[in-house]
Amino acid sequence: MKKHTKRKKPLNKIVALVLLVVLGYMVIQTGSYILSQGEFPILSDINLFRKEADTSLGWNLILVNDDYSIPGNYEVELTELSNGEKVDSRIYPQLQQMFDDARAAGLELFVREGYRTAQDQKDIMDERIQQYRDEGYSRSEAKKLAEEYVAEPGTSEHELGIAVDINADTSKCSSDAVYTWLANNAYRYGFIKRYPEDKTEITGVNNEPWHYRYVGVDVAREMQEKELCLEEYIETLK
Ligand code: DAL
Ligand code: ZN
Repeated sequence: MKKHTKRKKPLNKIVALVLLVVLGYMVIQTGSYILSQGEFPILSDINLFRKEADTSLGWNLILVNDDYSIPGNYEVELTELSNGEKVDSRIYPQLQQMFDDARAAGLELFVREGYRTAQDQKDIMDERIQQYRDEGYSRSEAKKLAEEYVAEPGTSEHELGIAVDINADTSKCSSDAVYTWLANNAYRYGFIKRYPEDKTEITGVNNEPWHYRYVGVDVAREMQEKELCLEEYIETLK
């Protein structure tokens, strides 16, 4: 009698292989999340599509956001400002010039925050999540709300040292005056308003009139003239 052996369909094998790859990828992502955050993620914590940022365009054009994280081996050389905040040494001369000129124009401003470590960023994120939790939001809702203003640790420009949060000394001048001056002039010094109000859909971050990111004078001028955010500008280079 002829023996019938049931042959496995090749399609099943392909499906199994794909599942295995997806599962393996999820395990790796979960592992790296636990390593960076020190906690087990909830589903909404993991961006499965996040890649390492491309550094090939130069240090001033590294794009980090929810889709691109800071390369693990990224090193930064810092210069300390008079108030103790630190920035990448390469942006310091332009930053100082911008502040000198803003002050000459009658404004009182300061760098509220420059460089942050990944741990600083995590602390800020945790604090913001806790604030929303205290207001009664669930953990995933609180996380979502926090992310409207705070970048996931490992993806903040502050960790690169080339972004600064600039505030007014409100005892001497208004925040509006400082934000308006920066919006009109920062590009002359190579800085761009990184999270404009009309680009939140693209940047994934709400309007932050205080957050300025160094890209270099030529790029900043072009971005200002063409009203491009960094995601859009980088796209034009492809
Ligand atoms: N506030 C910006 C998005 C940051 O946390 O880097
Ligand atoms: Zn900032």
